Amino acid sequence: MGLRELNVDLTKDHVALWEASTKFFSEVWRPAAISLDRLADPKEVIAPGSVLWDVLRKSYELGYHCSFFPKECGGMELDALSVALVTELMGWAAPDLAVSLGVCTTPFLWSILSPDPELQELVRQFTADTEARLTGCWAITEPDHGSDWILFDNVMAKDPAFAPQVRAVADGDSYVINGQKAAWVSNGSFAKYAALWVSLDPSKGMEGGGVAVVPLDLPGVSRGKPLNKLGQRALNQGEIYFDNVRIPKRMMIAQEPVTFRLVSNGQLCLANGWMGMCFAGCALAALEEALEYAKTRVQGGRVIYDHQAVKLKIFDMFVSVEAARSLARRVAVYNMALTRQMQPGAVHYAMAAKILSTETAFRVASQAIQIFGGNGLSKEYLIEKIFRDARAALIEDGVNDTLAIDGADRLRQGRSRWVVDAAAVQAAEAAAGAGAAAAGMTWEEFEPIVRPKPGTVHMGVMKADPDKCTHCGLCILNCPFRAWEMGENEVPRMKQEYECFSCFNCMAACPVGAISIVDTYHVDSGFFQTDPLPLPVKPPLEPLDAQGKPATWTPVEKLIFERRSVRNFKPDPVPEPLIRRVIEAGRFAPSGGNCQCWKFIVVTDKAMIRELDEACYGVLSMLYTAYKNDAMVKSLLPVYQAKPQPGMFDPRVILGGIGSIYRKYAPVFLDAPCVILMACDNRAIGGPEIQAGIAGQNMNLAALSLGLGFCWIGFSQVIEMVPPLKEKLGLKDPWRICTAMVLGYPKFKQQGIVPREFRPVTWFREGSAGRPEIES
Ligand SMILES: Cc1cc2nc3c(=O)[nH]c(=O)nc-3n(C[C@H](O)[C@H](O)[C@H](O)COP(=O)(O)OP(=O)(O)OC[C@H]3O[C@@H](n4cnc5c(N)ncnc54)[C@H](O)[C@@H]3O)c2cc1C
Ligand SMILES: Cc1cc2nc3c(=O)[nH]c(=O)nc-3n(C[C@H](O)[C@H](O)[C@H](O)COP(=O)(O)O)c2cc1C
Ligand code: SF4
Ligand code: SF4
Repeated sequence: MGLRELNVDLTKDHVALWEASTKFFSEVWRPAAISLDRLADPKEVIAPGSVLWDVLRKSYELGYHCSFFPKECGGMELDALSVALVTELMGWAAPDLAVSLGVCTTPFLWSILSPDPELQELVRQFTADTEARLTGCWAITEPDHGSDWILFDNVMAKDPAFAPQVRAVADGDSYVINGQKAAWVSNGSFAKYAALWVSLDPSKGMEGGGVAVVPLDLPGVSRGKPLNKLGQRALNQGEIYFDNVRIPKRMMIAQEPVTFRLVSNGQLCLANGWMGMCFAGCALAALEEALEYAKTRVQGGRVIYDHQAVKLKIFDMFVSVEAARSLARRVAVYNMALTRQMQPGAVHYAMAAKILSTETAFRVASQAIQIFGGNGLSKEYLIEKIFRDARAALIEDGVNDTLAIDGADRLRQGRSRWVVDAAAVQAAEAAAGAGAAAAGMTWEEFEPIVRPKPGTVHMGVMKADPDKCTHCGLCILNCPFRAWEMGENEVPRMKQEYECFSCFNCMAACPVGAISIVDTYHVDSGFFQTDPLPLPVKPPLEPLDAQGKPATWTPVEKLIFERRSVRNFKPDPVPEPLIRRVIEAGRFAPSGGNCQCWKFIVVTDKAMIRELDEACYGVLSMLYTAYKNDAMVKSLLPVYQAKPQPGMFDPRVILGGIGSIYRKYAPVFLDAPCVILMACDNRAIGGPEIQAGIAGQNMNLAALSLGLGFCWIGFSQVIEMVPPLKEKLGLKDPWRICTAMVLGYPKFKQQGIVPREFRPVTWFREGSAGRPEIES
């Protein structure tokens, strides 16, 4: 009747897992941790034959090391509540071993993000490991940078004084790493792999960081001696030194500021959330120890439980423990659901859970020692170890004060809600409540959208006539997807592997008309099957006058037909009076209910354009990586369910557009001297997208008429997923970035008539008697 499990949505499976795990952790972990804690020299903890290896082996054998990993990678993919229950039990039995097993996952967990086949194989080897051969660590703290790392996302951390000491310098296809990580790296003394946080560009302070997966048996890696410390002694820690350690570039899984920020926030969120669960369990263990002792220790002729002062203390401990467990579980379940949907979690909530649980564990353990009296200080009793373990946790994974300072800033700025999307958050909560298998769309329904059957998607095929070609190379430069390469005799040819969505801009760019169409982009079958099939393309119909006689185009028509997207600009700035005229053309566009739901943000500052580029690149490259990774693509299902946007997965966008950005063929904003971001009011009559399109196309034509080049940058929408940037742009809900446009003087001719898909028009002419006539 005493301590209860309050979760009413526990299933039979949860209960079975709870019982089996309680048995394993109490019978195997707790005694092992007690014996390891007593070893005088921490070197003995990792000596051959140490019980640590038995514990790790048995834990790996039972799959506890990969409980959170997706099934596609061979993981157990336990639902978030199961992971929370197991973690709490680990912390209850032995927080030091819990941390050791927890950090083992770090390099492998982040490897899931990489599309690199070798890293993906590494993840599979880790999940398949039943002997604890593959161990890991999270190597972030340095002798001179502890709290600095925790503040990585804080404004002040841009100061070069924050720049980490471990540096990775690009050298051809490699990075060369030098520097030292602190003795605080958990498992640092024995881990086989590190998730290594490094500095790539010290001038940017913490913002110039990167994250690499590093095998720790490479030449140049060495280790310090294991750290002798107060608590968590079964957790072995030690320095790692890097002396000209060379890794292939592909092992640097985060090398752009935005990716670095996403991974670092993800790590902080998972680690702090995990500490919350673990030390809620530790606090529970302290309470249990106190309860049992108070029921048996007799003073004044009765058990001390009967003394009111002890009762008050115990109930106070109980209140704190249950509060910590509740918050920790709720935050963990919520953040895990978001993570599984590729959504950044709520970091300040994870910090809150970590702070509450660790401070509760420490306070409750201290109160428990008081209840134990002198015995509480004796190594005979477990409470003494729990107290020391809990003390270390106030510093571990970020000193609680530093976390609170950073958490407060996040709270004020709403920075942890990276995706400002109520639908996505609701879906995350629904998924969290109902377990991993959220109701709705199945994988079988989603698969045709994200994984078209092989051989059904046919890229366009273009050909350059060697007899006409003057080898100028303009077609190559003008292709948005860089589908061309220079072939023999300096005549361009399509690459071996390429994307082409039949925009025909290469034809428009060719000064001598040397390019012809061999085949157009089409999809034979499946979700994105092209309609109609085959898809005819035609140039604009010849103009006729009102009497049906040959005529000439008006200047407006000519502009419309000859308009092509311009993606190569001269560096010359666009004069402000011209920018204003372009904006005026937008302002005078028609809008539903005359709501004029748009707002323009003009960016001509090069550093700011670079910032926009980097932000969009970071998000898009993450999306592309997830898409290319079979194991991760399933995790996109809840994202899709929350906000179905099939167009995002059209091969022309995900392979062509986002793929080109990922490969850095051109920056997102095309190196243009002027970017105009268009924010729209979500409350727009008739919906913001259509209004943005109308106003934007007015601007496009106005720009052309002024001799400027113009391109739409739809990918700018992902700025919505980078709230600090959105905030910097001065935007808040209900305003959201709908699209952007770039302007500049074209580097070369990028105008001309090209053919276009032709869908027959349906007519109901006067006298048709309701029968349609379809134009051939
Ligand atoms: C048990 C344990 C396990 C750990 N595991 C790992 C691991 O696996 N990997 C890893 O890399 N690291 C690990 N660490 C290191 C841990 O993350 C750092 O100890 C922690 O971030 C604090 O850094 P520091 O010890 O250098 O303290 P410092 O940063 O020097 O802090 C000292 C004091 O100054 C305060 N302070 C510092 N900066 C500020 C500021 N800007 N504003 C206000 N106050 C400030 C702090 O709050 C603290 O009170 C572990 C630590 C422990 C105790
Ligand atoms: C809403 C919208 C978003 C677009 N986003 C981008 C973009 O982010 N990057 C890009 O290079 N082109 C972008 N484009 C340009 C299209 O790819 C281009 O209009 C299409 O291929 C047809 O080519 P044309 O404009 O030269 O006729 C976008 C176009 C529209 C209408
Ligand atoms: S048609 Fe467009 S996508 Fe295809 S090769 Fe030409 S420019 Fe590139
Ligand atoms: S643009 Fe025309 S002339 Fe120039 S390289 Fe291409 S095919 Fe040859």
